[in-house]
Amino acid sequence: MKTEGFRMEPLDLTLPRDFLWGVATSAYQIEGAVSEDGRTASIWDTFCRVPGAVAGGETGDTACDHYHRMPQDVALIAGLGVDAYRFSLSWPRIQPGGKGPANPRGLAFYDRLVDELLAKGIRPWITLYHWDLPQELEDNGGWPARDTAERFADYAELCVRQLGDRVRWWTTLNEPWCSAVLGYELGIHAPGRNDRGDSLAAVHHLLLGHGLAAQRLRAAAGHPVQVGITLNTTHAIPADDRPASVAAAHHADGLGTRLYLDPLVHGRYPADVVDALHRENVHLPLHDGDLADIAQPLDFLGVNYYTSHVVGADGPVRRDLPRTAMDWEIHPEGLTDHLVRLGRDYPGLPLYVTENGAAFDEPAPSGGEVADPRRTAYLDAHLRAVAAAHAQGADVRGYFAWSLMDNFEWAEGYAKRFGLVHVDYPTQRRTLKQSARWYAATVARSRA
Ligand code: NOJ
Repeated sequence: MKTEGFRMEPLDLTLPRDFLWGVATSAYQIEGAVSEDGRTASIWDTFCRVPGAVAGGETGDTACDHYHRMPQDVALIAGLGVDAYRFSLSWPRIQPGGKGPANPRGLAFYDRLVDELLAKGIRPWITLYHWDLPQELEDNGGWPARDTAERFADYAELCVRQLGDRVRWWTTLNEPWCSAVLGYELGIHAPGRNDRGDSLAAVHHLLLGHGLAAQRLRAAAGHPVQVGITLNTTHAIPADDRPASVAAAHHADGLGTRLYLDPLVHGRYPADVVDALHRENVHLPLHDGDLADIAQPLDFLGVNYYTSHVVGADGPVRRDLPRTAMDWEIHPEGLTDHLVRLGRDYPGLPLYVTENGAAFDEPAPSGGEVADPRRTAYLDAHLRAVAAAHAQGADVRGYFAWSLMDNFEWAEGYAKRFGLVHVDYPTQRRTLKQSARWYAATVARSRA
């Protein structure tokens, strides 16, 4: 990917006229106001206070202060000319403690947000769970406990009863792999546990929670809603054609992609993955009927793509490719191949790229501008990759840039900036980066 001499030419892509353009955020990463209007703690509020858990000891206490600046932020989104805004609802704001009745003051914020979006002609695209589990539910076992799946379904129903009259697009979970593996196995994300058995139990209960919630969303909405899930499926590439490398890549794909999509779409866990886990004495806490609950019809699949993973017989292989500030290799062709593969192996499922973007170290705003040519080049290359996948037959219907604005990048704190819009945290001033102007021009051209 070349950035030198990169010009701000908007892209001219061959995509369907009704292709959906959007930007994305999540609640804990932008809202702040963690103790306001009845919100209780989530596992991230707790985790941020564990010494060493988050870079610089940073927290989401204030984040982008979006809770108090929502109308201005919606105006920013409208200024980009996008069709849709993907955001998440904060469970401990809406249902403090994770059970019982809804908190009207928490819900009121999302009521206002939805109304503000609709007034500006922007489609609200809601994610119910983007990692901020109410702390009380973690204290009762968290996602490794079956009860959490039931609680999640109750919460989903509270949300759709309040917002379902205006919101048609509902995503249950964002990246359950991260919740389960980073949260319960690797301890890098909240709640910071290190247990493979807990992690696999979390996978199962997240998927079960998805399926139970999907049923409740459809039943309680009272009219047709579009229900999906967003996954960070793994695009695993064998390092070479030796059988051991091919097998290792297949296993990585099993753990990152098929372990989620096979039960969701086909109603069964992949036997090779389950067998491999059994050999490590790790088991799925599967009850009769769970797979039928999990395999609810999906109206769409959200795909979050940032990078590819090259796998050799001895483990991950580091290629000599440009990388982002997250140290993720930049490989847009992987997005094309991955979308085509998902379309082939899980046919009939409309695909939306619900996240794609990059963090780079870039200069502070100067003269009201931020020069971020590498982000623009990254987005340019990945949008071309989406169009190429579409041309090869993948049913990809939309794209959301991650992220609307710089925000709290989980264990990395605020140092890693993914925004199209720069946030100066001390003043909360927002400044459009060049990539934002380029994205807006590309969206406008796609409609011309
Ligand atoms: C995935 C997550 O959904 C989002 O919260 C995160 O900020 C981005 N990837 C970038 O790491």
